[in-house]
Amino acid sequence: MPLLENISCLATCASPDGQDDIGAIHDAALVWKDDRIMWAGPAEDLPGSYVGEERWEAGGRLVIPGLIDCHTHLAFGGWRAGEFADRIRGRSYLELAAAGGGIASTVRATRALDEEALLARAREFRSEMLALGVTTIEAKSGYGLDLETELRTLEVYRRLSSEPGPRLSATCLAAHVVPPEAAHDRAGHIGRIIEQILPAVADKNLAAFADVFVEESAFSVREARRIFEAGSALGLRPKLHADQLTDGGGAVLAAEVGAVSADHLECISPEGIAALAQAGVVGVTLPIATLYLNQDPPPARAMIDAGVAVAVATDFNPGTAPTYHLPLAMMLACTRQRMTPAEVLKGATRFAARAIDRETEIGSLVPGALADFAVIDAPDVDHWLYHYRPNACRAAIVGGELLAGRPLRA
Ligand code: NIG
Ligand code: FE
Repeated sequence: MPLLENISCLATCASPDGQDDIGAIHDAALVWKDDRIMWAGPAEDLPGSYVGEERWEAGGRLVIPGLIDCHTHLAFGGWRAGEFADRIRGRSYLELAAAGGGIASTVRATRALDEEALLARAREFRSEMLALGVTTIEAKSGYGLDLETELRTLEVYRRLSSEPGPRLSATCLAAHVVPPEAAHDRAGHIGRIIEQILPAVADKNLAAFADVFVEESAFSVREARRIFEAGSALGLRPKLHADQLTDGGGAVLAAEVGAVSADHLECISPEGIAALAQAGVVGVTLPIATLYLNQDPPPARAMIDAGVAVAVATDFNPGTAPTYHLPLAMMLACTRQRMTPAEVLKGATRFAARAIDRETEIGSLVPGALADFAVIDAPDVDHWLYHYRPNACRAAIVGGELLAGRPLRA
């Protein structure tokens, strides 16, 4: 039963409420047994029965629940550096997409990779994310858009989740856009999603969620509603790419269909904010995508004030967010979304767990929770997100096992 001592600040994120309530305990200790937390609290209150257990040393550092990246597109083929340069020269994201680039170009590159090649790339990204302190990753399909490649992508996630590393939570995003071959048959494509892809995904138990990109350039509210109805009937809970480029009514739809989260939200309306708050839908903000597309940030403060739980994730993908650096996204959420470091930490742990419906097991350090945590080389959360470094994570522990970083022997 290992005991981690000399923790300058332990952010337990024990409370389900309060965006800035991270349950910080100074001069703390943490005890776990196998893969579960046994005890967390002030070192001076450590029960005598735990003294003398295997001792680990935090070295006066910050300890946080393992970070949860609750929105990524982890497996894809190719990159789109040329479009990055083109956007800087003045071409818009939608213009490039209309010219056959954008998501469609990644779909071509992804279809060209076999399962082993797709797996090898995703494996590399996942292990680099772990080194940053990320212990759970939500991973979407959506660059296949046909039955075969959607299943192949989700199979990659299933295989990865059996290898040591961050936990995975898979989402089927077959409704990312209408693929070029179906450009003249939208109805046919939506029919295939509803009648073939989602049933096959549910049948093989390859995903927990069905996501739809609700946007003028992707799917309408009416089309998305049909897809969500079909997914829900199969046990796939709704998630949305909502109100990213325009206010398309995505947040309002998220509330209507009982989505677990509505993500992006740069263009969310006041009505959308009220709807998310009322329905208890997590608002997932993606500051790296906002930055790469040079957009104004989502109104995170207004969402928090309205009572929405706001999460922070990377949106890692080859188009709008070509980096999986969650601490970078967190620093940007502070500076651009005007969220305090404590609010951001809650958004990348407990509220991120809520966004993937795993809040009872991960995202907080309380007795009974999974022993997923990270030791951060900073005295507290403010200092960590203020003094931005390439990697401040000293150790990442998943299910009680040290999987990245250096040993913490006392
Ligand atoms: O989350 N918004 C839609 N989908 C992705 C971008 C995908 C891409 O450009 O490849 C996103 O930003
Ligand atoms: Fe996304």
